[in-house]
Amino acid sequence: MLIDEKAIREKVQEIGRQISIDYRNRKPVLIGVLKGAFVFLADLLREIDIPVEVDFLSIHSYEGTESSGVVRITHDLSLNIENRDVLLIEDVIDTGRTVSYIIDNLGTRKPRSLVICSLLNKAERRLIEVPLTYSGFTIPGVFAVGYGLDCDNRYRNLKYIGVLDNE
Ligand code: IMP
Ligand code: MG
Repeated sequence: MLIDEKAIREKVQEIGRQISIDYRNRKPVLIGVLKGAFVFLADLLREIDIPVEVDFLSIHSYEGTESSGVVRITHDLSLNIENRDVLLIEDVIDTGRTVSYIIDNLGTRKPRSLVICSLLNKAERRLIEVPLTYSGFTIPGVFAVGYGLDCDNRYRNLKYIGVLDNE
């Protein structure tokens, strides 16, 4: 166990309240990065009390033992984000390669603003600096699962965030 259900709920409420204040009258677009962010996005959305729109994109990273950082979009947005205030919703930022690729890609579509909101932040593992506007929990460089995060597509359904025991 790394982060329990109650701590997650309270943190998600806090981020949702802050976004509601910061984005009043701006109708932001929340973009969830599939699949990991869908649980966080679903809960966060319901803690936001201003009008928002939701969209998703799906990415595939070519991985060996370590993430290579070569990423491509396998499912693109359905909304046009030109001149929109965009919040990119991630489950975890590790090296920063994935989110940095996505930010560059979305940036070419001329959003009015584009900020990152991540539930987890493995700050000490960062290889590429990324501006993190909303951050839930800073965690050590462990492999976390649960609450949407997977290991080989398992454990997404856990209500808490845990660390895999090698045994
Ligand atoms: P980065 O490109 O190294 O920042 O890795 C980010 C992506 O790798 C995330 O979107 C996750 O899909 C995946 N990832 C990184 N660390 C973890 C973890 O601890 N648990 C599950 N997935 C992770
Ligand atoms: Mg993932």
